[in-house]
Amino acid sequence: MLFGADYYPEHWEKDRWSIDAKLMKEAGINVVRVGEFAWSKFEPKEGVYDFAWLDEAINILVKEGVKVILGTPTATPPKWLMDKYPDIYPIDREGRVRGFGNRHHRCHNNPTYREYAKKIARKMAEHYKGNDNIVGWQIDNEIGCHDTTRCYCDHCLEAFKQWLKKKYKNIDELNEAWGTIFWSQTYGSFDEVILPRFSVVERQAIHGFSPGMMLDYDRFASDSAVDYQNIQIEEIRKFSNATITHNTMQDVVFTDIDYYDLGKELDIVSIDNYPSPVMHMCSDMKKFHHYVSVCLAITRGIKDKNFWVMEQQSGRPGWGAYFGKHMPGQLRLWTYQAVAHGAEGIVYFRWRPCTYGAEQYWLGILDHDGIPRKRYSEIQKTGSELQKVSSLIEGSTIQSEVAMIKDYDNVWAHEICTHSPKFKNKDLFYQYYANLNGNHVDVDITNIKRDLSKYKVAFAPAFNLMDDTMKAIFEEYVENGGHLVITFLSGTRNTDNSITIKTFPGYFRELAGIEVEDVDPLVREMKITGNIIGEGTATLWCDEITLKEAEALASFHGGLFNDKPAITVNTYGKGKVYYVGCQLDDESNNKLVQHILTQAGVKANLSQVYEGVEAVKKIKDGKEYMMILNHNFTPVTVELEGKYNELITGVEVDNKITLEPLGVAMITK
Ligand code: GLA
Ligand code: ZN
Repeated sequence: MLFGADYYPEHWEKDRWSIDAKLMKEAGINVVRVGEFAWSKFEPKEGVYDFAWLDEAINILVKEGVKVILGTPTATPPKWLMDKYPDIYPIDREGRVRGFGNRHHRCHNNPTYREYAKKIARKMAEHYKGNDNIVGWQIDNEIGCHDTTRCYCDHCLEAFKQWLKKKYKNIDELNEAWGTIFWSQTYGSFDEVILPRFSVVERQAIHGFSPGMMLDYDRFASDSAVDYQNIQIEEIRKFSNATITHNTMQDVVFTDIDYYDLGKELDIVSIDNYPSPVMHMCSDMKKFHHYVSVCLAITRGIKDKNFWVMEQQSGRPGWGAYFGKHMPGQLRLWTYQAVAHGAEGIVYFRWRPCTYGAEQYWLGILDHDGIPRKRYSEIQKTGSELQKVSSLIEGSTIQSEVAMIKDYDNVWAHEICTHSPKFKNKDLFYQYYANLNGNHVDVDITNIKRDLSKYKVAFAPAFNLMDDTMKAIFEEYVENGGHLVITFLSGTRNTDNSITIKTFPGYFRELAGIEVEDVDPLVREMKITGNIIGEGTATLWCDEITLKEAEALASFHGGLFNDKPAITVNTYGKGKVYYVGCQLDDESNNKLVQHILTQAGVKANLSQVYEGVEAVKKIKDGKEYMMILNHNFTPVTVELEGKYNELITGVEVDNKITLEPLGVAMITK
């Protein structure tokens, strides 16, 4: 199993390299990712290439058994290139140039830049052709990081026009899709089309652009990033058979690129996994591990396959200031968490913190002084444990009975029209995931275009943008016995991001067996009552529901829709459709999720619920095992049925296992 570190030999004196390589070997490190920001060193002047320094570093590393993943350095175009072609700089919505001195200072659509990116990728691939020490390639680095997916330069405008010409047969079709008759925005030809640059209505997150146009722009920007990546993949493939990957970002922070599309041409997807910053973003400390978990599950869902972690947190994060912390034991626990959800290669960011540059306080495995201390020991221990069970980790699968459907058109459309000042689509999605994960149920996060029939339950909260094909997919799924869970803001729009004229819930009207006549986006909370949840709270949104074929599971209490249904269930074919007409408080949502799981016959991995514990069932070559993670700072005893062998310690456990604070276990029969 790949177990490594992100290494920057160019940041250190040469005589340190062999010390690093030896320390790596002792820590069990067998791979480093290098090179992804080193363009000015690979090509100090146009056409003058220097790979000798990296060759030397690689030679030193391989002597200690450390192999290499090479990053193409295209996230950091050098100064000579930017001076020669300043139109490569991305432009923001207000028309400002996003200039030199950071990174990602390039537009994905700039044709000159695409040629230069291709050329440096080719040069590297040519140079390392046939070199078996290169086990992988990473294209660019976190494409789209620092909000650079969406650029508003003239090259993007031109590329957008071309993209639209491909999508729409003629300009009338575009006008219809975008509804440009509204406010007299009709375009006479594709040449007249604009980008959503700074315009007149620009206050409090309200914009006056056509939601259809905005969504097409987001789709286009995502496609541009994917093309930009694929151009490099094509070059490298000409010279190398090594695994090609890209390091994607955690869903909590980044959703600008359709990762299903980005993943298509990659051999394996990678993620950069930083739990500490997520902890800071998440107000509830008891829930943050679910947020890390959902990002990992999303990564596995990109190709429905295991993945690598290209940057796993190895120390306190920070740039000019520290932001975030971790406790001893958490680096190990978080590594196991990644493995549990599908990671089969772990590379830690970074080997040693840099003394200069923007990320001075982003700590690594070593400290600034280069001395191995407690983080080094923790990672060393983790590595040696993982290698012992690596044959069970690599190629393992998780056979989830539950799916959550993630679709980027929907993600972007909810950002374009937030429907209510308080509504956040991600929060709703994560709330359902947290309940499932908290009940020790395995979840696949998947694409609507994949086979749903293997899942007993599919959750599609606020799945808003629909067409007849998707409608038919959902109908077939439920008809054949699937349990579908949808919520307010489901099915009310078509894929042009226009509101449907079908009675709400629009495309789900027949499936849900209800009609929604009116909505209250709710600025205040509202009581709801029902047998399953008892007394609960609608924290956001109320749909005024009229029952058609469905029956009510809970009702609103007080307010505009007093005594009207809040949650409904409808039998459709062999399956059921649950409709939740509001966002619920966590406890009520959890009760509802538990009820649905029981009704659908989904079996949890543990017989009781343990707060702060994750349990993931995995299988490799017919051998089943379960990974149990204790995110609590206190020990937890988990009840089991029968005898198990704990694979990390080799100890037999009987009917129960006690996990130490921040402890992990891998058990098998
Ligand atoms: C990202 C990048 C790294 C580094 C770390 C820490 O994940 O890929 O290059 O910048 O964040 O900030
Ligand atoms: Zn651009």
